Amino acid sequence: MEKVLIKDLAKFVDKEVRIQAWVANFRSSGKIAFWQLRDGSGFAQAILNADVLGETKWQEMAKVSLETSVELTAAVSKHPKKEEYELQVKDFSFIQIAEEYPIAKKEHGVDFLMDNRHLWLRSSHQWAIMRVRNTLISATYDFFRENNFIKIDSPILTPNACEGTTELFELNYFDDKAYLSQSGQLYLEAAIFAHRNVFDFGPVFRAEKSKTRRHLTEFWMMDAEMAFCSLEENLDIQEKLVRFMVSAVLEKNKPELTILERDIKPLENILKPFHKITHDEAVKQLQALGSDIKVGEDLGADDETILTKQYDNPLFVTHYPKDIKAFYMKPDPKNPDRVLCADLLAPEGYGEIIGGSQREDDYDKLLQRIKEHKLPEEAFSWYLDLRKYGSVPHGGFGFGLERIVAWVCGLQHVRETIPFARTINRLNP
Ligand code: 4AD
Ligand code: MG
Repeated sequence: MEKVLIKDLAKFVDKEVRIQAWVANFRSSGKIAFWQLRDGSGFAQAILNADVLGETKWQEMAKVSLETSVELTAAVSKHPKKEEYELQVKDFSFIQIAEEYPIAKKEHGVDFLMDNRHLWLRSSHQWAIMRVRNTLISATYDFFRENNFIKIDSPILTPNACEGTTELFELNYFDDKAYLSQSGQLYLEAAIFAHRNVFDFGPVFRAEKSKTRRHLTEFWMMDAEMAFCSLEENLDIQEKLVRFMVSAVLEKNKPELTILERDIKPLENILKPFHKITHDEAVKQLQALGSDIKVGEDLGADDETILTKQYDNPLFVTHYPKDIKAFYMKPDPKNPDRVLCADLLAPEGYGEIIGGSQREDDYDKLLQRIKEHKLPEEAFSWYLDLRKYGSVPHGGFGFGLERIVAWVCGLQHVRETIPFARTINRLNP
């Protein structure tokens, strides 16, 4: 008999199928029992009837426990009212009768659930989040493929910092020191001279001591880098990418968004143009909204929250003060205290999901920046080389996948957006 996934049951109405699944819930009344089945692809109710199964099987049925794995044969029927399919069980066998499952139906604290993350992943909420995450990953690859970008895998073991030197994980590398990559950007800058438009996508590491709802110590970053690219072109591609990603979720993950009780109206705004303001304008707006931020200061997480609640779609904040941004960003020729950069802030209070900029493409100016930032010149000599041999205006950006998942799913905290979260106080399981 054909082995079938729950998601495909619609094609098998009135037919018999073979299903392998877990029992996510069960109840019985009289001579009928109901199993809520989960097979990874979806959820379906199985109906077991004592008269159909016979006495021996019916006795065995009573041994079922939460998370028990089963194989069964059943006839498929459609729910009279809903778009759901039911399984009229003809026969079943247990693969393993599960021990008492630690995650009960009652409310558990989030620490308990995170300690049991290896099991919590099975819950319908977590299942839905991982599937949205998967769509966002696939959409990223699809977008870049369609737009002539080449994937370049940047290294994870690196000899120098890319972002702040205070947030580096250091490790012994034989007789030397190495650092876990904070972003592949610098390596992608080398690759644009061979391939023009490139991206990477992989885990990066930040020894952030922050205990916020937006910070992980290990997260997945996508960096993109483009030769012959202006800030405007850079923002344009970011806007298209984010629109493409969110549209893919709206198209493919409606059932998941329903499980997550996500209001999709704000996501549907994604088709409208994104808003753009300068950092100076953002500061003015924030002051008017009661923030004590001053000109020249970075936006705090609270500032981003207040600010993005004023807009119904992602917001680019451009031209940040030079002193609060990374060494590689190119100053604005019209206002050298500001850099040609943008952060993309997600709406509904979510805040920064993308950081990007024009890169300093002049050898002498870049060298001076490296010195100002007291970075080890030797370690950056290869990076400086890129400004010697056919330097071009170029720029790029990087997103944190977990921040995007949190926003799209409407989650409070990034810890649920990655299978196994690493934070300042969590390395388990
Ligand atoms: O703004 P960031 O630090 O920019 C860079 O690393 C650039 N080199 C990227 C580039 O231009 N290629 O980080 C990029 C994004 C942020 O916008 C945020 O979404 C995410 O990475 N991010 C974090 N996500 C989770 N936990 C953290 N600790 C994060 N730090 C940054
Ligand atoms: Mg940033």
